[in-house]
Amino acid sequence: MASLKFPESFAWGASTAAYQIEGGWDADGKGLNLWDTFTHQGGDRVFKNQTGDVACGSYTLWEEDLKCIKQLGLTHYRFSLSWSRLLPDGTTGFINQKGVDYYNKLINELLAINVTPLVTLYHFDLPQALEDQGGWYSGKTIEVFEQYAKFCYSTFGDRVKMWITINEPHIMAKLGYEKGIIAPGNGEPGFGGYRSAHNMIKAHAKAWHAYNNFFKEKQKGAVSIALDSDWAEPLDPNSMDDKEACERYLKFRLNWFAEPIYIDGDYPAVMKSEISRKSKEEGLMTSRLSEFTDEEKKMVKGTADFFCLNYYTTRKIKPLHIKQGGPSFDSDMGAEQIKDPEWPEAGVEWLAVVPWGLRKLLAYIKDTFGDPDIYITENGFAQSEPPVLQDTHRWGYFQETLAEVWKAITQDGVKVKGYFAWSLLDNFEWISGFSVRFGLFHVDHNQPNLPRTPYFSAIEYAKIVKGNELI
Ligand code: GAL
Repeated sequence: MASLKFPESFAWGASTAAYQIEGGWDADGKGLNLWDTFTHQGGDRVFKNQTGDVACGSYTLWEEDLKCIKQLGLTHYRFSLSWSRLLPDGTTGFINQKGVDYYNKLINELLAINVTPLVTLYHFDLPQALEDQGGWYSGKTIEVFEQYAKFCYSTFGDRVKMWITINEPHIMAKLGYEKGIIAPGNGEPGFGGYRSAHNMIKAHAKAWHAYNNFFKEKQKGAVSIALDSDWAEPLDPNSMDDKEACERYLKFRLNWFAEPIYIDGDYPAVMKSEISRKSKEEGLMTSRLSEFTDEEKKMVKGTADFFCLNYYTTRKIKPLHIKQGGPSFDSDMGAEQIKDPEWPEAGVEWLAVVPWGLRKLLAYIKDTFGDPDIYITENGFAQSEPPVLQDTHRWGYFQETLAEVWKAITQDGVKVKGYFAWSLLDNFEWISGFSVRFGLFHVDHNQPNLPRTPYFSAIEYAKIVKGNELI
């Protein structure tokens, strides 16, 4: 393969999230968050009932993380703030100075080695105190999130210029509040996902406006939200039903959030019509999908300064007709996802490796959401246990994917500004615990000092970052 040069000042990064790496779950005054609660409850919802109590120990071993970042030569590092480490009960009523000190050290040291921080305010770990008061079902969480965002901008915004408000609201809504598979774990099929997402979208918008109104002029940074999406293709490209189901799939996934934020402040038409039609059939007076008021539409529209995409996989789609049982998101969407058996799998059952799907998704975002600057804020491949340090097959997936990103930029004219590998470290992979390893660095969780060792992928990624080209 000839060398593929990336644009000058392309951002090369890696990503992590607080709960997945920090540990120190009760250190120095940190408050509980809902993953602390969820994992401590046991009940086999997480692989071997593992927890993030220790994780990669980054709360104390953050200098080891910096060494990894340095070794990769990254230009950017994406990490998240633990909300309840900073504000133990979620509100600015009490600020945990030790938490502030921790992130100050991290940010300052990143800048000292010329690495730009991309900071996520909230990556799945809602403070438990807020969950106890209704969590994302409550309008109060919107106000509290806005205050939290302002607190972060005023505390760290002199140095942090790139912000993500919320990571993957779709995953939280669907797996946390619709299906109840992840924390907080109480699914309400057909209701919970929509209700929580509605408030998350408003909270994001408020946090964006807070920056825009009170901080942007002085701090000159930018704020976005990280949206996850698969690419989707009709199972039979000649079937009208499959094509329509495929369109619905994307609308119920990426567009659910991206249309309100990037287009018009409102949900996709097909979501509104399908959910309202089904709600009527179920004898409900109003749709299970809440409406935005005109004022809210104005508030939500245009609240992202760049586009953050988390991409992992692709699916083939055909219609799904669920006749039994109560209402559900899947029944509303009416689309069945099929994993082509030809596609290789990377370490975990759901992760079919489909690099070309990313190129298509990038083109779709360009065409649908006004040709924004796009950062791929997560993409990666896992290994299952036992992981091998010589992960050549995994590096092959990264190479193929980066080649597709390169094509998207040079052949399709998509404004991709950066790529962040998920993840810097092998970490606590939510309900899969430590059994699924996404790291560029291996972490030995059996040793008390949690040593980090580069995989072959890390060594190769460093070469690409250095040369700004795929060789
Ligand atoms: C994303 C999530 C990450 C990471 C990744 C790999 O949904 O944002 O925290 O776990 O998936 O599964």
